[in-house]
Amino acid sequence: MEVIIVPNAQEGSDVAARLVARQVREKPDSVLGLATGGTPCKLYQLLARMHRSDHLDFSRVTTFNLDEYLGLDPAHPASYHRYMEENFFSQVNIARGHIHIPDGLAGDVAAHCVAYERMIRDAGGIDLQILGLGSDGHLGFNEPGSSLASRTRIKTLTERTRCDNARFFTNPCDVPHHVITMGLGTIMESRMCLLLAFGSGKAQAVAASVEGPVTASVPGSLLQFHTRAKVILDAEAASLLARAAYYQWVYKNKPEWQTDL
Ligand code: PGA
Repeated sequence: MEVIIVPNAQEGSDVAARLVARQVREKPDSVLGLATGGTPCKLYQLLARMHRSDHLDFSRVTTFNLDEYLGLDPAHPASYHRYMEENFFSQVNIARGHIHIPDGLAGDVAAHCVAYERMIRDAGGIDLQILGLGSDGHLGFNEPGSSLASRTRIKTLTERTRCDNARFFTNPCDVPHHVITMGLGTIMESRMCLLLAFGSGKAQAVAASVEGPVTASVPGSLLQFHTRAKVILDAEAASLLARAAYYQWVYKNKPEWQTDL
């Protein structure tokens, strides 16, 4: 796990955008796993800007989103379909047929989840998965207690997550209880994971995920088992890390042979 600590969310998004852009330039038909929520907004803005001014080409890229609320119409202002359309897809030249987001209105949810897993496999697996972190440590919508081997399925949100996400809804009571999310097993099969966390509200979940024991009680901690996981944090999100100074030294003094960034 590589921990990258930068002063603020803007710089963290910048580092993440450079990594995603490098992935897409090196492999134009990359499969990207995408996240929603407040955290990756700036990252999508930067990628859209790179598309406009630096010819970053998404025409051969395939995407799979982590999750969607069950029962929300794609046109609902708080749906992740709408979020992705407004924040990213409408800003770049991605092929419509290459976009995949779990269908919150699926009639047969179980069959839809199986099909979603099959589509990821058929696309060759996810090359780079962008992740946010819940204040309760969730990855995707895999809440604490989720099986570490889980696949795409229905989950029930914790009240903490419903409260965290209430800001996206006109009426807080409207935050759905149920979601479809890629599983932790699905996420762990991505060839690279990029976790972003910004702000003091994430500090506890970050410390538990990066330096605590690996446990289903903190789904983010499972990334300790991933061979290519990068965690990009601002100073506030990193504030409870015991080894923050060490991670900062490592990042600033990367030897030339360590070409991964
Ligand atoms: P946020 O959510 O980016 O809105 O803080 C992160 C998450 O729930 O994964």
